[in-house]
Amino acid sequence: DVEKVNYKARIKQLLVERDAVLVAHYYTDPEIQALAEETGGCVSDSLEMARFGRDHPAKTLIVAGVKFMGETSKILSPEKTVLMPTLEATCSLDIGCPIETFSKFCDAHPDHTVVVYANTSAAVKARADWVVTSSIALEIVEHLDSQGKKIIWGPDRHLGSYIAKQTGAEMLMWQGDCIVHDEFKAKALRELKIKNPEAAILVHPESPASVVELADAVGSTSQLIKAAQTMDNDTFIVATDRGIFYKMQQAAPDKILIEAPTGGNGATCRSCAHCPWMAMNGLQAIEASLTATDTTPHEIFVDDSLREAALIPLDRMLNFAQ
Ligand code: 13P
Ligand code: SF4
Repeated sequence: DVEKVNYKARIKQLLVERDAVLVAHYYTDPEIQALAEETGGCVSDSLEMARFGRDHPAKTLIVAGVKFMGETSKILSPEKTVLMPTLEATCSLDIGCPIETFSKFCDAHPDHTVVVYANTSAAVKARADWVVTSSIALEIVEHLDSQGKKIIWGPDRHLGSYIAKQTGAEMLMWQGDCIVHDEFKAKALRELKIKNPEAAILVHPESPASVVELADAVGSTSQLIKAAQTMDNDTFIVATDRGIFYKMQQAAPDKILIEAPTGGNGATCRSCAHCPWMAMNGLQAIEASLTATDTTPHEIFVDDSLREAALIPLDRMLNFAQ
């Protein structure tokens, strides 16, 4: 529609004027991902977003995702202005892991290596020995386990259990979850598979163990896109945020993609396969972030001492991932 076309045109112009680049996550709405592609930005998983933002020469990063992604970008590029369409875009994992209680949990087990998921506040990262994203978590825990380390894992309990099972590592688990992935239901998925026996099931490991057990491939967003592209099946049942279909269909244009079933009715479903915080990254909000005279609702600031402490485990991850 005309309004959207106008917004897009204005954003494109503003990005150039402000020497800014749009960095979007796969879970944002398709028009946001398309805009990032058209303007030389990136659409990717959380690990790649961090790298892209750090290495891009633009003075300003517009991070279309959720708050921890903006904070990670600022920690890696303090000299850049990091703006978000809205700072209200948070994450249930971040909310469910407040620094005070998490820090006490860590203090109670001083002989453990603290590994935290990227979906956490800068303060929680600053308390950690390692930060991981879902695309590199398994390898990093394998590495730590091979050195005989005992691990504190936070905050996603499903991802943590998956990794513990795969690696055999000794892991003390924080009990957080993602409100999107926690909704996928094994029973309904089994029924869907019976109706589509040739389909392969792709699952993000933030999903419950009963759903992960049914998977033909388990992985981060980028790994699931790769699986849809490279596996021989014609049809895929996909258990992750539906935002991923834009890129997955682009990567595998001839494949049929089906959404995995969630809790279903609005009464029981907390988010039904689309993250409400990712959905806040609309065109209007992006334009607002680029035009605001008072950037308070958009700009990410991370306290210097916190930033320096959080950079250590983040750099560890990025160096390990190279
Ligand atoms: P990845 O893109 O790293 O798989 O992260 C998934 C996620 O939940 C981001 O919010
Ligand atoms: Fe957080 Fe889940 Fe939303 Fe990702 S999809 S930002 S993990 S609530």
